[in-house]
Amino acid sequence: PKVTYVGADGGTTTTLDVQDGTSVMKAAVLNGVDGIVGECGGNLMCATCHVYVAPEWTGRLSERDEVEEEMLEEASAPVREESRLSCQVLAKQDLDGLVVHLPESQI
Ligand code: FES
Repeated sequence: PKVTYVGADGGTTTTLDVQDGTSVMKAAVLNGVDGIVGECGGNLMCATCHVYVAPEWTGRLSERDEVEEEMLEEASAPVREESRLSCQVLAKQDLDGLVVHLPESQI
């Protein structure tokens, strides 16, 4: 499935073909997408994989769980309704075309 990352400046857009079951964070890190750090490697121990899910996609993702909520409080950029930790969002066929916006900062 494809995932598109939109830079905080709104101009830099990267679309990746992500393997089923791979997280949106991991795909970005492996492909050198600027703006996602993923410091803890996807263990919900940091908040450096914060993204804003594009509004048309928010309703199609699973809800944030409690641990993710708590970790999000550590995020460097403002947390919004559509904020997610991207290591908790796995690419799958019915999310093909997912769009996430990168925050101004992760650290
Ligand atoms: Fe650390 Fe997602 S990579 S919480």
